[in-house]
Amino acid sequence: MSTTIVSTQVGILGGGPAGLMLSHLLARAGIDNVVVEKRDHATISTTHRAGILEHGSVQMLAETGVDGRVLTDGHRHDGIDLRFGGESHRIDFQDLVGESVWLYPQNEVFVDLAAARARDCGDVRCSVSDTEVLDVATDTPKIRLTEADGTSVEVRCRILVGADGSHSICRQAVPDRTDHFIEYPFAWFGILTEAPPSAPELIYARSEHGFALISQRSDTVQRMYFQCDPGEDASSWSEEQIWDELQRRVDGADGFELTRGRIFEQMVLPFRSYVCEPLRHSNLFLVGDAGHTVPPTGAKGLNLALADVKVLAEALTSFFGDGSTALLDGYSDTALRRVWKAQNFSYWMTSMLHTRSDATAFERKRALGELATITESRYGQQYLAEGYTGWPSK
Ligand code: PHB
Repeated sequence: MSTTIVSTQVGILGGGPAGLMLSHLLARAGIDNVVVEKRDHATISTTHRAGILEHGSVQMLAETGVDGRVLTDGHRHDGIDLRFGGESHRIDFQDLVGESVWLYPQNEVFVDLAAARARDCGDVRCSVSDTEVLDVATDTPKIRLTEADGTSVEVRCRILVGADGSHSICRQAVPDRTDHFIEYPFAWFGILTEAPPSAPELIYARSEHGFALISQRSDTVQRMYFQCDPGEDASSWSEEQIWDELQRRVDGADGFELTRGRIFEQMVLPFRSYVCEPLRHSNLFLVGDAGHTVPPTGAKGLNLALADVKVLAEALTSFFGDGSTALLDGYSDTALRRVWKAQNFSYWMTSMLHTRSDATAFERKRALGELATITESRYGQQYLAEGYTGWPSK
């Protein structure tokens, strides 16, 4: 069977938010690129992921001509509540560090980016199969794939970017990598419910029964999570059991009560910290989840992916502009500096707010001491606020 050859400057495997944002930035810089994605548009746009964007991510979407919808349809949040000992403690981001975050779900970011690529006639090929990456250590790396109509295609490029998520095949093509990872003895049970918001801002709650996060989506739909066993079977829980479990994790003397509604999605989300080092092999570069995963407690996943993409887009613009390799050579180290800060932040938030089932009384009390250290000190609050809203890009 014949193979269609497509030549481009940058081949991007993975058409989620990271791959599409890179494609968008490169196109703006006049760099030709092709995006290849296994899933179809509907699947990605209905896959629920986290919902918090750092101010730097919002700026990137709004200022590079993706869409200003994040500013009109997203909700600016100027703080969060840390809740423990049955009491809420507000961390006021605006007062502490003069920044905010935006509640704008990742699937909406994807929808906006996909629309921007379609508007600008970007070459984005979805629903492909049999993807393979080859020759990454040569000057013509390749992506082989089969299109939805059965056509066999070879994308020949100068630079190949793996934006293909946590099950990345591109990562496998980095031969001399170190895989750093830790597993946690818990996962998150996530729900979507038809209900008005229970609170105006996110609540991160630590209780003796474990962690809970009260997040939002809109006036009529809410997102909430609670810490569970990694082997938990989400479908075995009744609505009432879920609401009772969430409620007992936010119970307190102030009588705070969650507003209940019909639960229309319930799932268990995996939980781990992972970093691939380096994020490059020869002409192959990794961005986003392909190179690293964080537990969701710090709301860093998508933000880190967009930070990688920003650094890589600048490096590729310099490379294709005048042949300079300095920024490309620095990509892995530059991106990993932020990745490790975010790993630390996510690990810290996770360990401070979750309770291991085998935790001793000492460990439980120590964690409360840590929370008090943060909430009773402006410096402590600032540390959290700076990490949560996002460190400046270098
Ligand atoms: C969400 O709204 O899905 C969400 C928000 C904050 C997190 C994780 C998930 O830390």
